[in-house]
Parts: sequence; structure tokens; C-alpha cells
Amino acid sequence: MLLALESSCDETSASVVHEGRVLANVVSSQIKLHAEYGGVVPELATREHLRNLLPVTRAALQAANVLPPQLDAIAATIGPGLPQALMIGARAAQAMAFALRKPFFGIHHHEAHLYSPWITGQPPVADFANFQPNVSLIVSGGHTMLVFVESELKHHVLGSTVDDAAGECFDKTAKLMGLPYPGGPELDALAEQGDASAFDFPRPMIRDLHDDFSFSGLKTSVRYFLRDQPFILDDPDRVRDLCASVRGSIVDVLVTKTVRAAKRLGVKCVTASGGVTCNRGLRKQLTAACANAGLKLRLAEKSLCTDNAAMVGILAERKLLYGHPATSLDEEVKPNWPLAR
Ligand code: KG4
Ligand code: ZN
Repeated sequence: MLLALESSCDETSASVVHEGRVLANVVSSQIKLHAEYGGVVPELATREHLRNLLPVTRAALQAANVLPPQLDAIAATIGPGLPQALMIGARAAQAMAFALRKPFFGIHHHEAHLYSPWITGQPPVADFANFQPNVSLIVSGGHTMLVFVESELKHHVLGSTVDDAAGECFDKTAKLMGLPYPGGPELDALAEQGDASAFDFPRPMIRDLHDDFSFSGLKTSVRYFLRDQPFILDDPDRVRDLCASVRGSIVDVLVTKTVRAAKRLGVKCVTASGGVTCNRGLRKQLTAACANAGLKLRLAEKSLCTDNAAMVGILAERKLLYGHPATSLDEEVKPNWPLAR
């Protein structure tokens, strides 16, 4: 039985996992709190984690019907993320591990994302019996990267964004259109009824053979487009077309580069996780492209796309099973911890 905590950005989450089964996964999201500022305010996030961590942890233990002495290990995300936000979850987990005399596992947030597409069903179970080497797309508000997962717990980064993350591009272009924060889901909903071929926006780095991404140029071209044609925003049909066109550009780049990397490496499986994996356009287009290329696709379930402690717990339990050493109770958080190249 393992308790995992996640507090790297704007979700406070606690999960109890046992032998690959997620017994509880409680998530308290701060999206509404940060909405009026148009982005995550670190100081507010920290205070909110502090306020919510113990109630969320208690709720997870209660939902799993588990008492602290029954736990075999405690895990927490220790990086990357907002420094003070990480500290709340990590220090609480280290204190619990100390009090219970159980091992502590400090987990890399992106490494945890790599395994969330393997958690499926209700109640959720990790399907490691069917694990295959894969190319994994992690795509969120803070990160966009492609990772080669060679075997369980062995991976290296193929490429990542050199400027904005894809989620940031969704949010910032949505903001230019006057949509409320976070704009990604709003833009996605409007795009569903728009024509993606209405406007032609750049697809940065789509033809480059490396696995890096760049999205700031696309955002700038939307800014210039709206500067020159502000009246577009007065016509709801044209706004829907604009949303569909912007989504089309972002999704084309993500899908093309992901499938190309998988073919190049000769893997048979692609996975995707992170908040942007909720995007309907991305889910549809990646599904079609993988089917076309004969690749098996595992998309994280929508509730596990965004940040959650279940993925942290499932990975920590795997580390425990494979005999990985526990993390020191004095280990500091690592706000800029890179995933292995
Ligand atoms: O993984 P996440 O919860 O947090 C981190 O950034 O770590 O991802 C949040 C991001 C935001 O940028 C949000 O706009 C984006 O995921 N997002 C979406 C959709 N749902 C969430 N972007 C596009 N379409 C969506 N449906
Ligand atoms: Zn994340």
C-alpha cells in the first residue's frame, strides 16, 4: 500500500495505490483561483496547497479505507515544478515517511506522466502486463516533449519545446481572442464547430527531422493576424474558424512529429499525457494517424491527463517493486529537474 502526493503546480492531489490498482485519487484543482489573474500565481498556489494538502490526503486515505500504519511507502513529486508548491507535498510526504518509519520515494513529475496512459478502467488499474516500448508525448501548459520509453523505468528525452509549451500556445492565443483562462479547453470547444482550413497559420518545425518543438512563432502570427483583422472577433462563425485553424496547426505539429519519431525508432506504440491530451482535435487526429501507421495508441484517460497523484503512486510502486533505492528524507525539491536525455 503506497500513498502518493502531487503538488508541483496548481493541483493538490493524494492517491493510494496497491499492486497497480488505484484505490483512491483525490484532486483539488486551483484553476478557478488563478483564473482572475490569467495564469498560475506561485504565492497563491503555495498557500492553497498548504490549505488543501491534509484534507485531500485524509480524503484519499478514507476513500481507500486505509490507515497510515498500513502504508508500505510514501511518495511525492519532488520536481520539476514551482519550488514552494513542490515543497509542500514533498516535505509532508517526507515527514509522514519519517513518522511511520517507511521509505520515501521522490518522483520526477514527467516520469510519472509517462506511465499515466497505462492506467485504465474503473477502478483504474495499471496495465503493465501489456507494456510495450513506446514514444510518449507529454503535452501540458508547462511542457511539450517527446520521450522514448525503451522499457519500464528506462527512458530518454528525444526533444522538447525550445520556447512555449503547446498548452501555453493554446492559452495565449485564446487570450488574444478574449476567451477566459485557461483558454485551451474553450478554444477546443469552439474549434469543434469551426473550419480548420479557413485560415493558414504556420506549423513550426513540422518538417525538421529533430524532435524539438517551437510554438511562440505561431502565437505571434495569431497576434499579427488579429491586429490586422480585429473585426474577425465580432463574428462568432469566424471566431470558431479561427479556433479550428489554430488548433489544426498545433495538433498537426504534435501528431506529425510524434508519429515520425515512433516510425524512426521502430516502436509499435505511442502514448500521450498531460493537460493538452484532453484536446478533442489532438485525440482524434493522433488516433487516426496511429491507426494509419499501424501504431498502437494509448491516450491517458481524461481524468488522468491533468496533474494527479495516481500516476505518481503507480510509478513509485513500480520503483519499489524493481528494488530502486528510496530517496533521502533530506532530499531537496528540484524545481528545474530535467528528464534524462
Ligand atoms: O497538465 P496540466 O493540467 O498542467 C500543467 O501545465 O502542468 O495542463 C494544463 C494545460 C493548460 O494549458 C490547458 O489550457 C491545457 O492543458 N488544456 C487544453 C485542453 N484541456 C486542457 N488545451 C487544449 N485543449 C483542451 N481541451
Ligand atoms: Zn503535469
